[in-house]
Amino acid sequence: MDAETIVSDRVDALDPEHILGRGVAEIEAVQAVVERLLPPPLRSIVDTQFSVSHLLFDEYVLRLAIQVMQDVKLDAAIGTWASAAEAATRAGLDPRASQVPVDWLLRHLAARGAVTSERHDREPRFLLERVLPALAPAAVVETQRAHDAACLPAYTIAETAARDYPAFLRGERSGDEILLAPMRLPLWVAYFSNDNPLYRVNNRIGAAALEAWLPRGANTILELGGGLGSGASAVLEKLTAAGRLGDVKAYRFTELVPAFLRRAERWIKERFADAAPLSFASLDMNRPFVEQGVAPASVSQVYAVNTLHVAHDLAFTLGEIRQALVPGGQLVVSECIRPSVGQTLYPEFVFNLMSTFRAPRLDPDLRPNGGFLTPEQWTRAFSAAGFADVRVMPDIARIREVFPSFYAAAIAGTR
Ligand SMILES: C[S@@+](CC[C@H](N)C(=O)[O-])C[C@H]1O[C@@H](n2cnc3c(N)ncnc32)[C@H](O)[C@@H]1O
Repeated sequence: MDAETIVSDRVDALDPEHILGRGVAEIEAVQAVVERLLPPPLRSIVDTQFSVSHLLFDEYVLRLAIQVMQDVKLDAAIGTWASAAEAATRAGLDPRASQVPVDWLLRHLAARGAVTSERHDREPRFLLERVLPALAPAAVVETQRAHDAACLPAYTIAETAARDYPAFLRGERSGDEILLAPMRLPLWVAYFSNDNPLYRVNNRIGAAALEAWLPRGANTILELGGGLGSGASAVLEKLTAAGRLGDVKAYRFTELVPAFLRRAERWIKERFADAAPLSFASLDMNRPFVEQGVAPASVSQVYAVNTLHVAHDLAFTLGEIRQALVPGGQLVVSECIRPSVGQTLYPEFVFNLMSTFRAPRLDPDLRPNGGFLTPEQWTRAFSAAGFADVRVMPDIARIREVFPSFYAAAIAGTR
């Protein structure tokens, strides 16, 4: 098998031992190509160890998706051609809650050849031509444990979601109840962590981009949706290592969820007490920033990791950000990127349960779907909001030719 094809769409589920064993040599060959396409600060971030975990987790989520299909009898529902909505009705699922996740499940399995799909009156429809394979998700967990146990928090979150998927699709439980119950907080602490290689890639790429594009001088950084603080922590570590903390006059960390904000403040202050002038505040990116203590033209960088894709009205939030920036100031975001239109990505299996993720205000040109956007869609949205010099790092448009599921990138634009 040549390097060009190893990580392209697979027809069947892969044996986890294949990914870990024979596959490693093939993944290394792809890595060698990808590495040439990465700017130097990112080369150590996307290594073979990460890519193997990425493929293992992709396999795990595929197995969970198959299990959910069987649990709610969506497999039987596509015994004859059906659109996603028809399949949901046939399976007796709640039409509102299930619309996006069922469409995602069917397209995800179709992309891997487990389900047949075609366009009918411009709408995709689906058919199960052969029984879905029974593949044990637990086998992948064990392979991951042997390869790199630090990724297991991602598996725990996905397994938690899978367990309650049937209740969610039937409209019996909300995504908030399933994922954001107070007892789940430790799972998120472990997941949104720089100790979790499957998540930290976003924080590290963001930190590398922020540092690379940070001008010398007294910068005032405003972080949005800082969550539990792993993004800020990666930035402060990166700037410390680069000897550039002196270029930060103020770092204002903001977050919407009070419990996240409190925990992040405690944790960051413990670790970076003397690093930079830090402040912590609540900020809802769906509301005018001025009302929340962010004056127009008062910050030189706005930074966010995996936050802007949950803005209810992306154009509004981009407008607020632009207004908060001084002329010449920059917006830098690190995002999970959809490499190409319509492609399904494993984080969506979990986050499709959240209405903030799956159902923002849509715009046919600038926000055609909920969740993740392609590099081209981000670039258009930034430009439409008035940002100049919009750039993407790394260049996903080139990387996706060899590594079609590579999904992390930073996007920046200048006021
Ligand atoms: C995927 S998490 C990323 C968290 C953090 N940036 C990290 O990388 O660890 C998205 C974050 O956005 C926050 N969020 C959701 N809606 C928001 C809003 N309207 N305004 C500000 N933050 C919001 C969530 O509470 C959550 O912490």
